[in-house]
Amino acid sequence: MEEQQKKKRIFSAIQPTGVFTLGNYIGAVSNWGKLQDEYECIYAIADLHAITVMQEPAALRKNTMNAFALMLACGMDPKRSITFVQSQNPHHAELSWVLSCSTMFGELSRMTQFKDKSQKHADNINAGLFTYPVLMAADILAYNADLVPIGADQKQHLELARNIAQRFNQRFGETFVVPDGYIPESGARLMSLQDPTKKMSKSDENANATIFILDDKDTILRKFKRAVTDSDTEVCYREGKDGINNLMSIYSVVTGKTYDEITAEFAGRGYGDFKTAVGEAVADHLEPVRTEYARLSADKAYLTECMTNGAQQAYRLTSKLLRKVYRRVGFIDRL
Ligand code: TRP
Repeated sequence: MEEQQKKKRIFSAIQPTGVFTLGNYIGAVSNWGKLQDEYECIYAIADLHAITVMQEPAALRKNTMNAFALMLACGMDPKRSITFVQSQNPHHAELSWVLSCSTMFGELSRMTQFKDKSQKHADNINAGLFTYPVLMAADILAYNADLVPIGADQKQHLELARNIAQRFNQRFGETFVVPDGYIPESGARLMSLQDPTKKMSKSDENANATIFILDDKDTILRKFKRAVTDSDTEVCYREGKDGINNLMSIYSVVTGKTYDEITAEFAGRGYGDFKTAVGEAVADHLEPVRTEYARLSADKAYLTECMTNGAQQAYRLTSKLLRKVYRRVGFIDRL
């Protein structure tokens, strides 16, 4: 009998820090859901990573619960994929220690995110912030993931994970799969509604700059109404029209219309109409997520059950590899 081809395995994680933006959703999380048909998917809420910057304990716990609910609401299906909270599988932290002994101080010193974050959190440059990429490597390598969907800001970390895997394999024999990055097809990069030369960000000081995926319809409509555009009147994609270009790209992603179709639709109608249409389309697009999130949030017992199952599945999956790693480096067998 012909052997069935094994599905490739995908691992990704997201930190439990606040609600996702429309940018996170379109650029990353909404794609995670779609990947479940084609790949074996494992998705985590990276709470261990979150404590590399100051967190209020009660808020972290709440945000982790909410992020987990949001992940399911966005289409991750705990029956088809493994969805779990990173700290509930102890193997991540254990593997991270072993891998840190195959990671060079110099390599970690070159990580641009470390440099940025040390500047931003100058009063808390802790060792975890420095070794963060090793933990991320452990997340990925523990599952023998083939592919890792990541944003541009995590490319350097993935490259490091590959180097660590190769180095370990060379020294101790084939142990880890060397993972590749997975760049999603719809590469729309959403910009701030208030300054369309800047990326749409969770932490923008201007409340009108960012659409959060749990914003209600009125809020979404209001934010789009106030979006910064230009003094022209034509809805078309052209250099120098950053605000309109951004709105067009958002409208295009949520409606599936091309730029030409959009230009034709709003010919002679002005920006006001266009902004309302974008707001309506985005609100409709996010409505199912918001409804599902509300439903899940009201069912804590179900969420806890999904989390526990997910963590147990994750733990089972990583047990074999951890045993192998421990044996390879010369530890006495794991209990
Ligand atoms: N560091 C990632 C971020 O902040 C989150 C993350 C943790 C991750 N572990 C991972 C992403 C493993 C991909 C694979 O976005």
